[in-house]
Amino acid sequence: MNFKGKSLLITGGTGSLGKALTTHILFKYPEIRRLIIFSRDEQKQFVMAQEFPINEFPQIRFFIGDVRDKSRLARAFKGVDYVIHAAAMKHVHLAEYNPEECIKTNIGGAQNVVDACFSTNVERVVALSTDKACAPINLYGATKLTSDKLFVAANNIKGDSPIRFSVVRYGNVMGSNGSVIPFFINKKKEGSLPITDPNMTRFNISLQGGVDMVMYALENAWGGEIYIPKIPSYRIMDVAKAIGPDCKKPIVGIRPGEKVHEEMITTSDSYYTYDLGRYYAILPATHKWTTDDFITTFKAKKVAENFSYNSGENDVWETVESLRSLIKEHVDSNFEA
Ligand SMILES: NC(=O)c1ccc[n+]([C@@H]2O[C@H](COP(=O)([O-])OP(=O)(O)OC[C@H]3O[C@@H](n4cnc5c(N)ncnc54)[C@H](OP(=O)(O)O)[C@@H]3O)[C@@H](O)[C@H]2O)c1
Repeated sequence: MNFKGKSLLITGGTGSLGKALTTHILFKYPEIRRLIIFSRDEQKQFVMAQEFPINEFPQIRFFIGDVRDKSRLARAFKGVDYVIHAAAMKHVHLAEYNPEECIKTNIGGAQNVVDACFSTNVERVVALSTDKACAPINLYGATKLTSDKLFVAANNIKGDSPIRFSVVRYGNVMGSNGSVIPFFINKKKEGSLPITDPNMTRFNISLQGGVDMVMYALENAWGGEIYIPKIPSYRIMDVAKAIGPDCKKPIVGIRPGEKVHEEMITTSDSYYTYDLGRYYAILPATHKWTTDDFITTFKAKKVAENFSYNSGENDVWETVESLRSLIKEHVDSNFEA
């Protein structure tokens, strides 16, 4: 990716993914002109500004703003070439309890990002999605599916603009804010790890895996793709065994809006899904480029009809041992089972 003379803005730049992206880009592409962090909470920005001091990272800027505020977004996007849209409300149970708030941020915010891009000169946009957006059963997933639709459809109304919107969809990010692994590590002190459902499985990706995918989409998207990584699954019981082998593991019951297994590609999506090697891409139903050119350029292979990608039916699994070494590598270097 050539960032020379380019400006990139990350909505939700103080979050888990935003910070990992910031580190990746500032160290790998120091030639970038500007990297702008856009988010609401001044305290998180204050703390992040100490981690990325301007004398060491003269490219970084912090911009307070809410994705619900379209005019603020348009101001922030002036002179920006690339946008990564990571800001979201992402906690399933909080979205169930506060539906209006989730809709305002995840759907209204997505539409505002699209509109602000059209009113400025942004060239590329990558929006973050989640496995919960696939055949959603909770509001968080439903709002992210709507957001995905808004970004995919934005390519249809771009006219002569060179802008390309794409989406990156993945599963649980190991160790990210509010995720199960830091929760269990903390709970271990009490000698008990609550299990919602012993059969539960999840897809697992590292923060760096998420960063790599966003960078891939930023560089390669033609517009309208939903990218999905090929990643392992884990069983929640194996995560509990890896962290607290001697802890009690009471079954507390599935929470509102939770699935036992997550899905990233449904059988209905299979008609539009291509295997790119490291990733799958669900192509948009309508697009201005030709599918044959896409297939040739990316050596893409159509998946079988009725193919689906489900965390419970995955071919690749983390084990108790592999989870322990991943936790040590990605979450807590002092971790001991
Ligand atoms: N973590 C996962 O396991 C996972 C898995 C799949 C997909 N994703 C998706 O990846 C994206 C990033 O997730 P993450 O784990 O980095 O989340 P995170 O750590 O919770 O960070 C969320 C970021 O969004 C900002 N934000 C929230 N509401 C905002 C608003 N109204 N206006 C502006 N900024 C706002 C937050 O800052 P302020 O609160 O200061 O505004 C924060 O910087 C999300 O879109 C999420 O849906 C995450």
